[in-house]
Amino acid sequence: MCGIVGYNGKNKAIDILLDGLSKLEYRGYDSAGVAVQEKDIKIYKAKGKIINLEEKLKNKKLNGTCGIGHTRWATHGEPSETNAHPHVSNDQSVTLVHNGIIENYQELIKKLQKHGYIFYSQTDTEVLANLIDYYYKKYKNGPSDAINRTMVRVRGSYAIAVMFKNHPDEIWVARKDSPMIIGKGKDGVYLASDVPAILKYTNNVYYIDNLESACLKKDEIIFYDLNGDTIEKELKVIDWDITSAEKEGYEHFMIKEIHEQPEVIKKTISSYINDGSIDFTKCNLTKDILKNVEQIYIVACGSAYHVGVCASYVIEDLARVPVRVDVASEFRYKNPLLKENDLVIIISQSGETADSLAALREAKNRGIKTLAIVNVVGSSIAREADYVLYTLAGPEIAVATTKAFSTQLIVSYLLAIELACAKKQIDKEVYSDLLKEMQSLPEKVNNILNDDLKGIQKIASELSSAQDAFYIGRGLDYAISLEGSLKLKEISYIHSEAYAAGELKHGTISLIEDNTLVIGVVTQEAVYEKTLSNLTEVKARGGYILTISPDNIDVSKVSNYKISIPKTNKFFYPSLTVIPLQLLGYYIAVSRGVDVDKPRNLAKSVTVE
Ligand code: M6R
Repeated sequence: MCGIVGYNGKNKAIDILLDGLSKLEYRGYDSAGVAVQEKDIKIYKAKGKIINLEEKLKNKKLNGTCGIGHTRWATHGEPSETNAHPHVSNDQSVTLVHNGIIENYQELIKKLQKHGYIFYSQTDTEVLANLIDYYYKKYKNGPSDAINRTMVRVRGSYAIAVMFKNHPDEIWVARKDSPMIIGKGKDGVYLASDVPAILKYTNNVYYIDNLESACLKKDEIIFYDLNGDTIEKELKVIDWDITSAEKEGYEHFMIKEIHEQPEVIKKTISSYINDGSIDFTKCNLTKDILKNVEQIYIVACGSAYHVGVCASYVIEDLARVPVRVDVASEFRYKNPLLKENDLVIIISQSGETADSLAALREAKNRGIKTLAIVNVVGSSIAREADYVLYTLAGPEIAVATTKAFSTQLIVSYLLAIELACAKKQIDKEVYSDLLKEMQSLPEKVNNILNDDLKGIQKIASELSSAQDAFYIGRGLDYAISLEGSLKLKEISYIHSEAYAAGELKHGTISLIEDNTLVIGVVTQEAVYEKTLSNLTEVKARGGYILTISPDNIDVSKVSNYKISIPKTNKFFYPSLTVIPLQLLGYYIAVSRGVDVDKPRNLAKSVTVE
């Protein structure tokens, strides 16, 4: 999705803006642009990669120390230089960048056309520049008033950064339902859609809430509410290390993040275990609250939804609490059946996914308790949920999630165990055995990463010409197959599907022909023989079978190729099986020459519906 950066301080703005934009590339974009305050505001835009913009800027001397920048992910209007941001009002009094969607832009364009405004782009954003200009000139009450009147008039989501011709060396910002943070460093103030863009300069940030605005001066930030009254904000410290947002010698962020998993899993476990017991006190989630939960709804998108599917198996089995799992875009429109003692859990790496945020609000509006499992501290979902359990994955840059997924799994296990304990479904011995085994996961993940890389690379290069792939398993093996399949298709563009192994015979098996790739995840002892039968049926029809299983399960008869994983408790296998599945997706994509960290059409954080 679109990314915004801004800088106002002592240094040359253009370098900081371009650096910030390159840090936001992972969000997905198709054009980029900057505006820098020189004598006048200078604007440069280019279609395609940031390098095209840099090319345009090559011989330009931009010494200004205040500016804004933007990466655009097209929603309204094709990717083009004209549609790229910044956009300007008719007489260039207002220059603006925007992330989000203005739903009533057509109606507003008509209104402004009646007042003589003309429009040059196909975007919904241009209307914002002209509407701010209109209110600025009509009421003559300055930028804050013009922005507030605009916020009241528009429908949709936005994070905007605005420069006014008559207010040089100031950047005005406002937001509703789109992410934005403001950083305060020793050399100036910074603005960004996401933390990695400013981490190099500061980790002291302000969060701006919905329908608030701010004026960023060189050494001061003034916040306003919708009435135009000033408000005080607390400066927060982001506990992320700059190196975690750099590649550090790895070819791609994705493989770096895969290798970070032992460490972030360990960190996440340790942050919630105190003296041998699970401790959720920092998020006020007491055993008493958990004891009263009668039903759980887990709501999320993409991979986070797959964590929800895994969690549903573990929670129902361990804590005997019914769990429903929904993709957020469905949940929000289906009039969900929620009851007083239900708990709605939202899982999200970014904490900004539009549908997940809307689902959270839907639950809150109905008076239902909400719990967020989130990675980005201070994100909208984290701020709005009643309870937050943070994952400690650090910044995740690759579009394909890996380490955030693994830490979300860990938090789900912890929650399941604590719930089971609160509901008196497990005794002390089982409780401490589970915690002990969970604490061994980082080492087991590390072993997979150290032992099997060559083998997986080899099989990946053999399989890289596959047209289709099917991932099958039962129970938790099915749940993790969903993630394995997504990992493959999103970065290698190979068509893939995941099925509950028992479902194959109900249709999918007709797609199996000579050499169709089938990946069987076989870890669950209670059902492994049944999965083996399903794999045998596939093999009899010519399928090429890759199995992922611990050595105590004999898969030799069905496998063309086998990846071994260490043994663990049945509930924790997803944490181990996901590693070869991620590696397989990664190496197949690399062999196919795909831009692994930025797969086509995808955005890291989906902040529009
Ligand atoms: O930030 P979120 O966890 O809410 O994002 C949800 C999905 O967009 C995300 O998991 C997506 O499916 C990943 N790209 C998959 O690798």
